[in-house]
Amino acid sequence: MIPTSSISDSGSLKSTLKGSLYTDPAIFEREKKSIFSKSWILAGYEYEVAEPGQYISTQVQGENIIIVRGKDNVLRAFYNVCRHRGALLCQASQGKMGVIRCPYHSWSYGLDGMLVGVPNAKECRQELVRNEKFGLVRAHIGVWHGLLWLNLSDDPQPVEKQLDPEIMERFGELATFSRYSIENLRVAHREEYDVAANWKILIENFQECYHCSTIHPELTQTIPEFCTGVGTQNEIGRGGKFNQSYEAFSLSGKGTRPRIKTLLPEDDRLYYGITMVPNAFINLTPDHIIIHRLIPESVNKSKVICDWLFEPEQMAKPDFDPMDAVNLFHRVNQQDFAACEWCQANMDSKVYENGGFLVPLEQHVTRFYNYVLEAIDLKG
Ligand code: FES
Ligand SMILES: [Fe+2]
Repeated sequence: MIPTSSISDSGSLKSTLKGSLYTDPAIFEREKKSIFSKSWILAGYEYEVAEPGQYISTQVQGENIIIVRGKDNVLRAFYNVCRHRGALLCQASQGKMGVIRCPYHSWSYGLDGMLVGVPNAKECRQELVRNEKFGLVRAHIGVWHGLLWLNLSDDPQPVEKQLDPEIMERFGELATFSRYSIENLRVAHREEYDVAANWKILIENFQECYHCSTIHPELTQTIPEFCTGVGTQNEIGRGGKFNQSYEAFSLSGKGTRPRIKTLLPEDDRLYYGITMVPNAFINLTPDHIIIHRLIPESVNKSKVICDWLFEPEQMAKPDFDPMDAVNLFHRVNQQDFAACEWCQANMDSKVYENGGFLVPLEQHVTRFYNYVLEAIDLKG
């Protein structure tokens, strides 16, 4: 007889989501439809498409998307799908172009998506060219603090309606976050991780710091208060204070760059982690920020793209070296993602129905659980 392993709510424990929510492909399909296809999803940086003709290509929910700045300076997003026979139009991840030309039969589209060229086939041309019916299919694009967000739903809410409340939840106001001037920063380093875990485990892990003292020796050395298991995401406006002997959020703690110039002295030696449900984490430090982009690939696989951003004037200096900073969070990422995989491995165990998280230590995950359950209609 197998003992029951269900954890029910008690004074100090609240039940987690059921294990099957992390392993059932049908649940993952519901999440794709109700969460990822309806939300604004972080896709890139506005500076990558600053000039007319510049484009980036990316994927959201398995859809190939092009983001391009038009000759009229307007930023647009299109499905990267030729209207003729469906070929992938832009195959590089970024570049510059005057026209979007299909590599297969050379139909070409203006940067506004309009079909402008159909080679040969003279008899069809008049019907097809400049006919809106045959232009590229648009996707919704939003710019928020210099970050590009895509939304694949038909009629999304404005991007700031989704994102500003996450900042309010973390800070109680918008000004602190704005001071980090993400729109002025540039990516100096990128790491990509393939994680054998459901996307929700990654979000839960990012939101609690109960694990910090066990698996993050370098992080707790940097921010000693994380040893207590109390993260700062539970407390509005509170950042994690650096170790007294640390000048920077880096492996050595040595400060080699000034604080971001729009910050204030009161922002010094503080770290803020912010969860931007459903697919981004933003980490603020005085001289750089770290952005995680989470891409759910299947019910038990996620890709994470992690970028380290700095001020361009710092990056231009001959002795600029981001690796002391990179090595701290890269190590944290490796530790976190290994832990996420330990949990995923047992989500379908017959002795695990659900677990329990500690309140108030891990309380922040409740809001996320409610968000998921409401979205996929399992609440109540
Ligand atoms: S598939 Fe694009 S032109 Fe034929
Ligand atoms: Fe962690």
